[in-house]
Amino acid sequence: MTTHHHYDALIIGSGAAGLSMALHLAQHAKVAVLSKGQLTSGSTWLAQGGIAAVLDTEDSTQAHIEDTISAGGYLSHRSAVEFTVSHGRESIEWLIQQGVPFTQESDDYHLTKEGGHSHRRIIHSADATGKALQNTLIDKAKDSPNIDLFEHHIAVDLITRRKLGLAHNRCVGAYILNEKSGHVEVFQAPHVVLATGGASKAYLYTSNSDGATGDGIAMAWRAGCRVGNMEFNQFHPTCLYHPQAKSFLITEAVRGEGGKLILPDGSPFMHKFDKRQELAPRDVVARAIDHEIKRLGCDCVFLDITHKSSEFIQNHFPTIYKRCLKLGIDITCEPIPVVPAAHYTCGGVITDEKGKTDIEGLYAIGETSFTGLHGANRLASNSLLECLVYAKSASEEVKMSLTAPLDASEIPAWDESQVTNSDEDVIISHNWDEIRRFMWDYVGIVRTTKRLQRAKHRIDLLHSEISEYYSNYKISNDLLELRNLAVVADLIIRSAMLRQESRGLHYTLDYPEEGPECLDTILTPVNFSWN
Ligand code: FAD
Ligand code: SIN
Repeated sequence: MTTHHHYDALIIGSGAAGLSMALHLAQHAKVAVLSKGQLTSGSTWLAQGGIAAVLDTEDSTQAHIEDTISAGGYLSHRSAVEFTVSHGRESIEWLIQQGVPFTQESDDYHLTKEGGHSHRRIIHSADATGKALQNTLIDKAKDSPNIDLFEHHIAVDLITRRKLGLAHNRCVGAYILNEKSGHVEVFQAPHVVLATGGASKAYLYTSNSDGATGDGIAMAWRAGCRVGNMEFNQFHPTCLYHPQAKSFLITEAVRGEGGKLILPDGSPFMHKFDKRQELAPRDVVARAIDHEIKRLGCDCVFLDITHKSSEFIQNHFPTIYKRCLKLGIDITCEPIPVVPAAHYTCGGVITDEKGKTDIEGLYAIGETSFTGLHGANRLASNSLLECLVYAKSASEEVKMSLTAPLDASEIPAWDESQVTNSDEDVIISHNWDEIRRFMWDYVGIVRTTKRLQRAKHRIDLLHSEISEYYSNYKISNDLLELRNLAVVADLIIRSAMLRQESRGLHYTLDYPEEGPECLDTILTPVNFSWN
């Protein structure tokens, strides 16, 4: 018998966005928060640099707004930028109230700097801001009687009235795979929130953890929501280059504190690419590194922070210092080998200021969403800020409309009668690898029309193979992620093919100049299917 759960709000995702929203709602509603792994399984836990907000008297909201729009290749929606930036200070104050231990220096919060920012405005907890933030919010959520936390519960698909063949479409819940029991359960709620993070796992090399497979974007797309600007996948310029490092990030704050990028022969090179040098926005720095690596045929470039004292480095970057030392690199006296890696999904499910998607009752917040804030390239440390601001505004919207859920009998149980156990799991791992490799090679930092066409051809073939597999075999986390990854890779490729210009993170040799108009790439689903 299928297990049915009922909540006022179902929040899929336990990162900065999901947990913040749950805490804002908890006094008013019964909330379920799901994570497909442990509660700490997403990108929030890994965040290093910090959160951008105007906290210094020398800084101004206007300067943060202009920095965001300029880094975003002038594609950001000014209204979304103004909305987000103007709620920066109150978001940080809320985190401080929750107990997040931000780094202090001389009785005040220390603010660091990152690429594209004209002022010091990044509040942080040394170089492990995400861990400090998420630990605090998890503790708070565990203390709240109105929040139930479900680890290892994987959302398979959204349940909408339209899918049930009922009039007046709205989202009414989701089918959730309980990984421990192996059974699919029904979570029913009048408000469903996608806080599922990004999709950088679509690329072979990424700073993200394993679960960043764009599940929320794929589920929303299958349910009938539009997605925007999926071509803008951000590559972080500096991930540790080491066989055992698995793309460990070296925070941009290292460059903010004066770290220099150098070639293997020790010479600096960023001055050749941008007058802001190491503190140019990420798209510029990542492209410059990619160019130099390809030009010299070397494996990596280096990031040198040795001009700072050992004490400064160990205090400000303790996580990076210890991780590198374990791998035999003492960053206080030698440069760090670095390469770019896929880091952040600027596009996503289209929402308004309240996180509302195209489907009533369905919200998207955090990295999964497209609010218009990031334009063609996200400004460093604006992501956690976006999670916090939209979690709050979406919770206010939900509070105003806590209606009774649908009659449970109207939601059918998950039907497994037509599927069998898979006898060829190798297909899943092979297809995973194939997608991530051709996305890296053909849809990466530098694109061409021909490479995109190649990628499109391959994803079409894989799509039909994966759909067939999904229809015939029992679901597992790996299969669900592969199915979602294929959808998201397809959305990225299609969006990239539509953008016939170079702007921000989308750089193509066939259209190397910026076009005359600032236009978003909006994709609208035409066919709906369970597959
Ligand atoms: P996440 O924190 O990624 O959480 C996603 C959640 O959704 C997880 O709980 C996951 O288990 C769950 N989930 C996903 N799919 C499903 C499913 N199908 N079913 C159930 N649950 C699901 N940004 C900054 O602003 N400042 C920084 O300093 C910074 N540093 C970063 C460093 C690294 C290494 C990385 C990778 C990113 C960094 N970012 C930073 C980006 C930022 O951390 C993320 O964009 C942000 O944390 C995303 O938060 P989120 O709540 O949207 O999603
Ligand atoms: C970093 O610390 O470099 C990451 C910051 C971000 O992704 O915004």
